[in-house]
Amino acid sequence: MDKVSNRRVLLGVTGGIAAYKVAELARLLVRNNVEVRVAMTAPATHFVTPATFQALTGRPVATDLWDASFPNHMAHIELSRGADAILVAPASADFLAKLAHGLADDLLSTTCLARNCPLPVAPAMNREMWDNPATQRNVALLRDDGVAILGPAAGDQACGEVGMGRMVEPEDLLEAVLAFLAPKRLAGRRVLVTAGPTFEAIDTVRGITNLSSGKMGYAIAEAAAAQGAEVTLVSGPTALAPPLEAHFVYVTSAAEMANAVKAHVADADYFFGVAAVADYTPVAASSRKLKKSPEAMELKLKPTEDILAYVASLPGGPFCVGFAAESEDIARYAQEKRARKKIPMIVANLVQHAVGQDDNEVTIYDDAGAHALARAPKSRIAREIVAHAARLREQPAQANVTALKQVS
Ligand code: C5P
Repeated sequence: MDKVSNRRVLLGVTGGIAAYKVAELARLLVRNNVEVRVAMTAPATHFVTPATFQALTGRPVATDLWDASFPNHMAHIELSRGADAILVAPASADFLAKLAHGLADDLLSTTCLARNCPLPVAPAMNREMWDNPATQRNVALLRDDGVAILGPAAGDQACGEVGMGRMVEPEDLLEAVLAFLAPKRLAGRRVLVTAGPTFEAIDTVRGITNLSSGKMGYAIAEAAAAQGAEVTLVSGPTALAPPLEAHFVYVTSAAEMANAVKAHVADADYFFGVAAVADYTPVAASSRKLKKSPEAMELKLKPTEDILAYVASLPGGPFCVGFAAESEDIARYAQEKRARKKIPMIVANLVQHAVGQDDNEVTIYDDAGAHALARAPKSRIAREIVAHAARLREQPAQANVTALKQVS
């Protein structure tokens, strides 16, 4: 995981049982070199004591709007000006309501109102509280105000019920916070990503698919969002949770994926075709379940549309990055594929190194040649791929100099 130095986060803790998990988040942030100050609401101190956070962060915990130890007695200004981001976790329904309406009746709400930095919040509450139209109205207002809503997730709740409202896990919140603190190379850019396999129906229950897990594509979407891009992720069927920070479009077949890409490509600046799109689909899917018979069965297939080649052929289209999974001779096949699809950059890997795994080992091919990346988790590889594409598109001259240095 990238280390973020000299970045400061104000961790706002409000009243909810998930506060105990935020103690772990504070520890993870500190371990990633983030300077953490904690401000707690009065209800939060019923769940976890300030002493816990003080011990984990090495800094006093602020709870009082009238704390005389702050310069000019202005704790709310001092705390908000010192922060690169304020993360409220857990964010209770009551606190979201206060934020949405600009209330400022305690230290944390006043600090949030006085902020001049991003405000991500991680809601956590009972599922009925989350589903309540009042909460949903407040969340919509906050989104319109530019507040990033991280989660909530679905699952078991402390009250014994099951549903939407669990706080996003500390490890995922850590990733989201580090993303807020990272330099935003793609601010204002739109990025379209395809990921996962496709499923080509043979009949109502059977189909043709492949072993793509979607992990690489989801990691690319997350890395682009972390760089400030507005991301749309078009995904085939996977077992992964949609990334917190991307507009998510779920598709099944190659044709649906092509349609979704066409609907979103118009204003895209980058297109990452990571999906393992089926090359063939049944000429006609049966509308009822096919019956077994002792006879041999022939399935007639027709080629699918090449989505990447289509996007690459659009006049004034996005900067296109393709992916090539090969079983052998990747250098030759990847460069041939790059030329055939007329794309500036392709990322190649051996199938046996990548499919379904958390790590990957890839080589990037572009006009300047080959750039091998060391084996690493897909999240790190994704960050490097996105950074490489951004260098090529945003500063082509500089990128070529860097690239030549790497190959020589
Ligand atoms: O032609 P091949 O499938 O080997 O190329 C792989 C690249 O092309 C990947 O980036 C994949 O997402 C893209 N592709 C596509 N549409 C297809 C087939 C592949 O976008 N129908």
